[in-house]
Amino acid sequence: MKHFINLDDLSTTDLNQIIDQAIVLKKEHKAGKINETLKNKTLAMIFDKSSTRTRVSFEAGMTQLGGHALFLSDRDIQLGRGEPTTDTAIVISSMVDAIMMRVSSHDDINNFAENGSVPIINALSDESHPCQLLADMMTYKEHKGSIQGKTVTWVGDGNNMCHTYMQAAKAFGFKLNIATPEGYEPEKRFIDNYQDYIQLFNNAEQACKNTDLVVTDVWASMGQEAEQAKRELAFENFQVNEELMMNANSNASFMHCLPAHRGEEVSASVIDGSQSLVWDEAENRLHAQKSLLLYLLD
Ligand code: CP
Ligand code: NVA
Repeated sequence: MKHFINLDDLSTTDLNQIIDQAIVLKKEHKAGKINETLKNKTLAMIFDKSSTRTRVSFEAGMTQLGGHALFLSDRDIQLGRGEPTTDTAIVISSMVDAIMMRVSSHDDINNFAENGSVPIINALSDESHPCQLLADMMTYKEHKGSIQGKTVTWVGDGNNMCHTYMQAAKAFGFKLNIATPEGYEPEKRFIDNYQDYIQLFNNAEQACKNTDLVVTDVWASMGQEAEQAKRELAFENFQVNEELMMNANSNASFMHCLPAHRGEEVSASVIDGSQSLVWDEAENRLHAQKSLLLYLLD
């Protein structure tokens, strides 16, 4: 049995197979082909944080594959009232075929994997967001071909998405420049683990030189709302705008996992401009995760 808790839980070969299969599934879906490979299968989706893309893509994805998805908010299940994670993992996994979790504590996801009996999918923790990277890598491949040997620049917070880009740099063989304000670098253990694939900057212009893809994310992630004002000051020189994009290669692309704040981490001219791939990136959550579900369940 396999889990998908961090991107590097899977081999590069398997990750590439999932992405290639996702591209096929997308074409088949758009051509109206019915695929009920997951008929009678149930995915439990546990959320203690908000979501638009993750919830809709997993739920629609299970429906399209002939199965069913259960939305379980922590406000509705006993987990939110203190039932132990271990007990919850044993019980839910005795009734469903896979569990997707968006929870604050990465340890809770590992705990489910240790105590449950079905595949566990990390749908965002404070540490990482591997499902998003499947969609991002699929999107790059569709638009630009292989990302191997390319340069990607992360601009902004050294957060869960940044950590997962570090894992992707190793898995997919690209160079990752990371531009953050001082004090907002990725966690040290990630820097130590992925040091051969990354270069750290405190200057966004320098980090964007000769890059093929510029990626950013919100300055204050879910759970950091109280730091919004402080972060707006710290990140003021880290907005991805047309001026910053001028440092990148002329055919460079832009990605953002969304939700985005125009006028903060990205200007409207970039996110709504010709270099932006964000709408395909969002849609590809559906196709990439359908492929992931088939890989884990079929
Ligand atoms: N990118 C992403 O995970 O979006 P949601 O928070 O809307 O699920
Ligand atoms: N870093 C963001 C990603 C949202 C998809 C957060 O954790 O809120």
